[in-house]
Amino acid sequence: MRTRLFVLIIMAFALVSCTHDRNDPGRAYFPDMAYSNAYESYSANPVFKDGKTMQAPVEGTVPREMIPYPYKRVFEDQQKAAETLVNPMQADKETLEKGKEEFDIFCAVCHGFKGKGDGHLYTAKLFAAKPSDLTASFTQEKPDGEIYHIMTVGSLSGLMGAHGSQISPENRWKIVTYIKNNFKVK
Ligand code: HEC
Repeated sequence: MRTRLFVLIIMAFALVSCTHDRNDPGRAYFPDMAYSNAYESYSANPVFKDGKTMQAPVEGTVPREMIPYPYKRVFEDQQKAAETLVNPMQADKETLEKGKEEFDIFCAVCHGFKGKGDGHLYTAKLFAAKPSDLTASFTQEKPDGEIYHIMTVGSLSGLMGAHGSQISPENRWKIVTYIKNNFKVK
């Protein structure tokens, strides 16, 4: 008897829970979950302590495949980079071609396509600081690691900004190889 009553109740539920209107989403039992508030990336947000929707990554977060760079933009670290970092690239055709491609994209605006320090930003007076002549012995005699370091964190004076976040470590070494091989004054 009990089982029959139970089955009947279930069937009654099943029948009333179906409607013919396919567009009717039915009854929402937890409306706040079914219709959650979607905050825009840049809008204010009461949920977080700082009132912002977009949250900065947790301290110490690194992007996938990023190799953390140990040296900062200070004199001692530039010396350490010069002494310890070893250029893993061979000066082959493929490396030099890629090095040129990347240099032309990221460096030529200031340093010029031939590295003479006469890039468009400087000659057109859009950038006040004189970019170094990378063909000069002053730069050419620097160890590869030091040039890599300057590219990664920027110059000591801060006049040249850091390019570490824009260029992969591999491509930075290729640029160094290109500078050392193609801009050398023979
Ligand atoms: C916005 C302009 C600008 C861009 C872009 C730029 N540089 Fe520089 N660079 C400078 C300036 C200005 C200096 C001189 C900085 C100083 O005296 O502190 C400099 C200095 C340097 C030096 C130091 C030279 C030396 O011997 O002391 C190197 C090496 C260098 N740049 C390489 C690069 C490379 C490689 C790139 C591309 C990844 C690049 N720069 C992109 C403006 C720029």
